[in-house]
Amino acid sequence: MTMKPCFPAVPIDVPSESPVRYWLHEYQYQTLEFTEMERTALSRLLPLLVCGEQSSQWVFYNESIRQQKTPLALAANDFERIVADEKYHEEALEWVRNQIEEPADILAIKRRSQRFFSSLGAKKTFEEHFAQIACLDALVCKLMLYIEKGSLGPHHPFTLLCRAIKQDEARHVSVSKLHALELGYDKSQWRALNASISERLFDLLSTERDAFAVLGVDLNPIFESKEE
Ligand SMILES: [Fe+2]
Ligand SMILES: [Fe+2]
Repeated sequence: MTMKPCFPAVPIDVPSESPVRYWLHEYQYQTLEFTEMERTALSRLLPLLVCGEQSSQWVFYNESIRQQKTPLALAANDFERIVADEKYHEEALEWVRNQIEEPADILAIKRRSQRFFSSLGAKKTFEEHFAQIACLDALVCKLMLYIEKGSLGPHHPFTLLCRAIKQDEARHVSVSKLHALELGYDKSQWRALNASISERLFDLLSTERDAFAVLGVDLNPIFESKEE
C-alpha cells in the first residue's frame, strides 16, 4: 500500500553513487524473507525511518538552493548529492515496506515521527540545524550498526541495506558537521546539543522498543554514551 508521505517529494532528480542505489539494483526484484514477527516489527519501524529520509531530503535540498546564492566551501552539488542519497534510502526502505502489511496505528506512528522531524528545524539558525543533523545522522549510523549486529544476521538483504545506508550517513555526518562549523557553529555547544538530540530521538524510538527487540536491537547502549 502506498502511504501518503510524511513530507512531500523534493523537486530535483539527480543521481548519486550511493551504495543503496546498487543495493536496489540487486534486490528490488526479490521478495525478502522475514519471519512473521520480523514483518510486524518492520511494519512499525520502517515508517519512522522513511519519514526521516524524506525530511532529510528537504534540509539538504533547501541548503543546495541557498548555497547557489552564497557559496561556501561546500558547493550546492555536495548537498544535491546528499538529497540523491536520501532518495535512494527512501526508495529502498519504502520498497521493503511495500512488501509488508501496514500496522493498524500507522497514522499515529507517522504523526509522531513527523512531529519529531519538523521540530528539528523549527526556529533554529542554519548552523544549529546542521549541527543537529550531524548528531542525528551519527545516531542513525549507530542504529544501523546495531541492526546489522542484530538477529537478522549479517547476510540478510535488509542487513546489507542498513550497512549501505550507514555508509552514506557517515559521510552526511562529516558534511553536516563541516558545514555547521563553516556557518559559524560554536563548537563548545556540541556536547549539549548532542545530548538533547539523543534524548529526543531516544524518546521517539522508545515508542517502538518491542519492535527493535524483535530485531535484536537494544536501544539503551545506542544512546548511553553521550560523547560527541
Ligand atoms: Fe538517509
Ligand atoms: Fe542522511
